[in-house]
Amino acid sequence: MAYRYENAKDKIGGIFHISREDLTKDDFIAEVRAKLEERGVLVFPQLHASDAEQLAFTDKLGERVNFTRQVPGSDASAQDVYKITLDKQLNTERDYVLGTFFWHIDGVTIDQPLPKATVLSARALSAEGGATEFANLYAAYDDLPEREKAEIADLHVIHTVEAAVRPVNGIVPPERLERYRTMAAQMDQPLVWTHDDGRKSLLIGTHADGIVGMPGPHGRALLTRLQQWASQPQYVYRHDWTPGDLVIWNNQGVMHRVVPYTDENRVMHRTTIAGREKPGHVARGEDIEAIYVMP
Ligand code: OGA
Ligand code: MN
Repeated sequence: MAYRYENAKDKIGGIFHISREDLTKDDFIAEVRAKLEERGVLVFPQLHASDAEQLAFTDKLGERVNFTRQVPGSDASAQDVYKITLDKQLNTERDYVLGTFFWHIDGVTIDQPLPKATVLSARALSAEGGATEFANLYAAYDDLPEREKAEIADLHVIHTVEAAVRPVNGIVPPERLERYRTMAAQMDQPLVWTHDDGRKSLLIGTHADGIVGMPGPHGRALLTRLQQWASQPQYVYRHDWTPGDLVIWNNQGVMHRVVPYTDENRVMHRTTIAGREKPGHVARGEDIEAIYVMP
């Protein structure tokens, strides 16, 4: 098994040059697991993996999940490969895809362990836009001033599908919200996630709608400040795709977004690896109501 590895940036990202044949070898999978923890996002340039090969890689790394099976527009016959595209033939509900323009972690508003990792491969690209950005939420946490770490140590955040789709829809039509609520939950997640191995990362994104016990605007302002902190250039790797590239990210310690595109030709194939850790729980009704009250 021959491969070449290089870091992408100082605080995030790694690039593996390897052949498709060697991708699922046990020794290499162990290397991928280790680097995923250390680097947050890994790129396999121009791998040109088929769906079967992407699924084999996914299965080697853990248990596959398809948390978008219930998302309107997902193609049930496509099994566990979800197509991220604005092409209406392949994905009938665009707002889920348009939500990827904003910083997020996959699966935060679902009442199940947070997905461990996401695998995305480029099948067709857009003429303009479409680069994907990844921000390292471990590094961003580590670099916070000690005083701020102490201030946020015990805070909890309410994550909602309303917050996730607000920038997509502007005003969210009630029937749309009803449909999304069939798969989503209003989740209470720790702001600072202490993982089973003891490392800590921020758990933030556009879906973060308020902080438990804080007036709505105060909580949202703090969340905005943290999102801006974590998306500073030193924590961000931007991937400019080439056809056939495959990327995997540690969804438990990285937030991501795509540079807006309008091109319906762009098609990405996504598979997801289940997580084991479940830092949060369904939010209490009174905690949710409180973040919508004007102080
Ligand atoms: C995703 C996602 C970004 C992209 O698949 O979860 O956010 O570049 N995709 O399409
Ligand atoms: Mn995503």
